[in-house]
Amino acid sequence: MTIESPSELQGLLRVGRVVGLAIKAMREAVRPGITTLELDAIGAAVLREHGARSAPQLTYKFPGVTCISINDEVAHGIPSNRVVKPGDLVNVDVSAELDGFIADAGYSQPVPPVTPEIEWLVQCGQKALEIAIGAAKAGQPLYMIGKAVQAHADACGYNVIRELNGHGVGRKLHEEPRNIPNHFNKAARTPLKEGMVITLEPFLTPGKGRIFTAPDKWTLKTQDGAIAVQYEHTVIITKDRPILVTAV
Ligand code: CO
Ligand code: CO
Repeated sequence: MTIESPSELQGLLRVGRVVGLAIKAMREAVRPGITTLELDAIGAAVLREHGARSAPQLTYKFPGVTCISINDEVAHGIPSNRVVKPGDLVNVDVSAELDGFIADAGYSQPVPPVTPEIEWLVQCGQKALEIAIGAAKAGQPLYMIGKAVQAHADACGYNVIRELNGHGVGRKLHEEPRNIPNHFNKAARTPLKEGMVITLEPFLTPGKGRIFTAPDKWTLKTQDGAIAVQYEHTVIITKDRPILVTAV
């Protein structure tokens, strides 16, 4: 969506804050011994407390409130009885609807003991989101985001997972622009406009970056079994730095 009034701005910021709070509660609860279903319940409680509903459940009948993906699982992991173990890398991705507005965010949380390899991947992943945020400016074509992210990933020695992209959001979970590449793709020439609501969500991996859908029909995993990170915010485009809707 494109924000056109103060009430739309307020509505989006409200749901963005709830999503940010849910992510925060979940990532702070990540520890050895907890199941992904228990983590999901923590996120679900935050959404419920604020009257928000799971967007993937509403939109796609996703069999969970939030998506929780561990290690070589990249995205759309289904909450289950899987137990979080020491050394795991746990991604929580929450999108929710409140009063007709939708926001989407994600965070990869490492579980101690954190190896230097995971520490580097986490740092490069967080920086990749910062770089995407810095490149997302009104007047710039969409491809400038991926151009900046890919240069950073190259410098880190990681690959971008090209099959997963940022996207328009705000009224629907996935709306125009449908594909905001995290790699340099000159075909993505649509200009960013003031008020445009999009997600920025680079996925980085030390592996080749190819993915497949697991037999559960939801979970996306790396083909080579490499781990992956994703950090995601919903943002509103301005002439300068975008407004971070899901930061708390
Ligand atoms: Co998203
Ligand atoms: Co997301």
